[in-house]
Amino acid sequence: MSEISVDPHVFVVFGGRGDLMARKLLPALYHLTAQGFLHERCVVLAVARTDGINDEDYRTWANDKLASAGIDHESLGGWCDRCLHYQSIGKESPEDFGVLKSRLEELESLYNLPGNRAFYLALPPKAFSSTIANLGDVSLGTSNGWTRIVVEKPFGRDLESAQKLNQQLHSCFAENQIYRIDHYLGKETVQNLLVFRFANSIFESLWNRDRIDNIQITVGEQIGVEGRAGYYEQAGAIRDMAQNHLAQLVALIAMEVPAAFEADAIRYEKAKVLRSIEVIRPEDVVLGQYGQGSYGDKQVSAYKEAEGVAANSRTETFVAMRLQVANWRWQGVPFYVRTGKRLPHRTTRIIITFRNPPVSLFHPHQSSRVHANRLIITLQPNEGFDLSFEVKSPGEPISVQTQSLDFRYEEAFAPLRDAYETLLLDIMTGDQTLFVSSDEVESSWRLFTPLFDERLQIYTYPAGTWGPEEADAVLNREGRRWRNL
Ligand code: BG6
Repeated sequence: MSEISVDPHVFVVFGGRGDLMARKLLPALYHLTAQGFLHERCVVLAVARTDGINDEDYRTWANDKLASAGIDHESLGGWCDRCLHYQSIGKESPEDFGVLKSRLEELESLYNLPGNRAFYLALPPKAFSSTIANLGDVSLGTSNGWTRIVVEKPFGRDLESAQKLNQQLHSCFAENQIYRIDHYLGKETVQNLLVFRFANSIFESLWNRDRIDNIQITVGEQIGVEGRAGYYEQAGAIRDMAQNHLAQLVALIAMEVPAAFEADAIRYEKAKVLRSIEVIRPEDVVLGQYGQGSYGDKQVSAYKEAEGVAANSRTETFVAMRLQVANWRWQGVPFYVRTGKRLPHRTTRIIITFRNPPVSLFHPHQSSRVHANRLIITLQPNEGFDLSFEVKSPGEPISVQTQSLDFRYEEAFAPLRDAYETLLLDIMTGDQTLFVSSDEVESSWRLFTPLFDERLQIYTYPAGTWGPEEADAVLNREGRRWRNL
C-alpha cells in the first residue's frame, strides 16, 4: 500500500462519456486503484447528457475504452463494477442538477462516505459556466466533507473571459477548492524542473543574466489537427499551448526560490514571473499555419484541407515569440519560445545557453571557435539532460571540441507515469502545487491577449519544417539562431 492517503470520496466527472474520460481519466483512475492509492470506497460517478443508460451500460462502455487503452478485462478484476456509476444530466436544467445531488447523497449513504466530493469538468469550455452556476444553485459548492472543482484548459479565451470565469468560480468555491488543470505540470520532467533548480546548488549561482546568454523553449508536435478542428479553429496555438503549457515552462525556469515547497509559495513565485514579462512587441511574435508538406515519403495535407477547417482560416498552428522577463535576475536575457503542430518531430526542450568566455584564449591556435556551454533539458520524449562543455582533443596543435554529460530517465528509472495519474492523486489529496492559480492564469492571459490581433500576419510553413522562416529573423537579428534538435 502507498503511504499517500486518499479519503473516501465520490469523484464526479462531467463529460463522463467523452474523449478525455476514455483516454486519460479512466485509465488513470484504474491505475491509481491498482497501485493501492485509492481507498476501496472511492467511487466514480460519470455524468453526461445521454439518457437511458444505467450503471451496467456505462461499465460496458468503460470496459471497452479501457481495453482500447491497453488495460484488459482480466487486469481490471471487476474494478468497473465496483467503482463506476453513471448519472444522466439530461438537459442540464436545475431539476437535473437536483437529481444529481440526490444521486450523490444516495451513493454516499450506500458506501458510508463522509461527503467528500470532487467535480471534474471534462467539458468543452463553453459548458464550464453553466455547469458551475448549476452546481452553485443546488448548493453543491460545499458539503459535510471537502468539495473540490477541477477545470480543464483552456481556462477562458482571453483575459476578460478568464476573469469572468474566475469570478464565477469564486462565487461558489474558494480558491483552495479550485484545481485548474495544465497537464504539463503533471509530467515528471516538468516537476523535476523545481528539483533540478532548487536541489542542485551548483546551478543557482549561474541562473541569471550574468551567466546566461539566452533561453530557448520549444514545444513541438508532429501531429496536425487530428480531427479536433471544431475546437482548434476556435483556439489556435496561442490559446491551446502558449497561454498555458509554454507560459508554465517559462515560469518554472525563471521563478525565484519559493519560501517553502508548498502550493501557495510556488504559485506565488510563478505568478510573479508571468507578471514581470514585458508586453510582447509585434516584431517579437511570428504566427504561422502549416501548409502541405512531407515527412520522408509521406505527404501530408495543409491545415486548411483538414475536415472542419474554414478554407480561409486564420487560425495559427505555430507561434514563436521573444519574451523579456523584466526583473533583476533576467533583465537582458531573451526567452525565445515557440510551439507548433506539424513540426519535424515531437519534442519539448529547454535550452539554456551560457555566456561565452569573456576572452577567446584558444582562438589563435585553432580554427574552430569555442562554443558556449549549453544545458539541454529534454522534457519529452527521451527525457533527460545534456550539459555540453569544451574539452581539449588529444594531440597538437591545441584544438577544442564540444562534448557532453548526459542523463536519461529511462536508464535510471522505471517508465514515467502519466501526468493525469499524478494530477488526479493531487486533487484527491488536496495538493494544489501542480495546479494553476487565478493569479497565474490572469497574468498569462494579460500577456497573450494582445496577440489576438487581426493585423498580425499568419505565415504559411510547409508541414514537416520548423515553422515559417520569419520566425528565424526574431533570433537572427540578435545574432542567434533556433537550435533545432
Ligand atoms: C494539449 C493540446 O493541451 O496538449 C493539444 O490541447 C496538444 O493540442 C497536447 O497536442 C500536447 O500534449 P503532450 O502531452 O502530448 O505534449
